[in-house]
Amino acid sequence: MNPFKYGQIVSGEYFYDREDELSRLKSTLIGGNNLVLYAPRRYGKSSLVNKVLTELKNEGFVTVYIDFMSIYSRELFIKNYSKAIAENEQNPIEKTAKKISKLIRGIIPTISFNSQGNPEFSFSWIDGAEKVETLEDLINLPEKFASSKKRWIISFDEFQEITKLNGESFEKILRSLIQHHKNVSYLFLGSRTHLLKDMFSNKNRAFYNSAMLMNLDTIDEKYSIKFLRKQFSKDKIKISTEVAEYLIEKSNAIPYYIQFIAAEIWQQVINKKEEIDKNHIDEAIKTIIELKSDYYWELTSKQTNYRKKVIRALCNSPNRIFSREITEKFNLGANSTTQKAINSFIEDGIIEQFNNKYEFSDPIYKLFLLKYL
Ligand SMILES: Nc1ncnc2c1ncn2[C@@H]1O[C@H](COP(=O)(O)OP(=O)(O)OP(=O)(O)O)[C@@H](O)[C@H]1O
Ligand SMILES: [Mg+2]
Repeated sequence: MNPFKYGQIVSGEYFYDREDELSRLKSTLIGGNNLVLYAPRRYGKSSLVNKVLTELKNEGFVTVYIDFMSIYSRELFIKNYSKAIAENEQNPIEKTAKKISKLIRGIIPTISFNSQGNPEFSFSWIDGAEKVETLEDLINLPEKFASSKKRWIISFDEFQEITKLNGESFEKILRSLIQHHKNVSYLFLGSRTHLLKDMFSNKNRAFYNSAMLMNLDTIDEKYSIKFLRKQFSKDKIKISTEVAEYLIEKSNAIPYYIQFIAAEIWQQVINKKEEIDKNHIDEAIKTIIELKSDYYWELTSKQTNYRKKVIRALCNSPNRIFSREITEKFNLGANSTTQKAINSFIEDGIIEQFNNKYEFSDPIYKLFLLKYL
């Protein structure tokens, strides 16, 4: 078995560090406060929150997790959220369905059976019922189920996506109701950092100042080195500190890319039991670039010619892009036009902005561009 995993929520032996973040998240939620956790894509938000929720559940809290990435309508939100809430009730499902039917206007709870034959909560709509009433009742449901002895913790992943659900009115309803919840704490997370931050720090938005903001950084290098050495050593594969540092540098220290590159290296060396050197890392990256090249070409070819020039300049000199030297070297126009192009890359999630620094969200894409563009 490959000792490295990427592209999904990781736990157990595949998860490392995040001790400080874990205890801060837990103590804030236990203290009854709401929290926003934001970080660029693939920094490990969902895995961390999964661990937070697992531990809180073991400590007696009721926990609910819902991902807004896959929710594209209010109806779907109502379906998924009511199911996620119902699953947490310890009572037999029939009793829960009855309880819910009293608490939510506009729906008739039913019990269906999944492919394994287990009962599942579902419902049908009452014809002509007002969906806003259903939505409001559902949002208040956790507070009805919770008590000071049995507190609930609810986590909304990729929360910035709620603006897709009929603009800002959904945001307003949600905010106006949950601010009265006494026995439920909310954890909002998301990867489109500028959108999420705007939701909570813009005076004109419903969620303004309603939760503490917490930024998740990459993992400290020393823990990543330790993890790499430990996982490789399970198969008696050696990696020196220096080579591990090289791998982390190529990954921009982003946990996903550390595991992605390491998994590829493991495949290369597992039958040879060689000590890993820098060549192995370069080879693994080459393989990954080839694997993803169709996608990378597509992403690149759909950019306008001007944006292609800007992206080339960005991968060569990300932080001096507005200097005269770079403008001339890459034949760029007015700074305002370049800025517009950069903003579109940020909007599309290709570039991340850290204060005044720009970085590629996907370090492998940057290496692809350096090679081919
Ligand atoms: N604490 C961790 N220990 C080990 N690997 C991690 C950790 N956090 C993240 N990873 C690696 O990063 C990958 C992505 O993690 P996760 O899905 O939790 O991140 P995310 O920030 O929610 O990403 P996305 O923005 O894509 O939703 C994991 O599959 C794993 O390879
Ligand atoms: Mg995630």
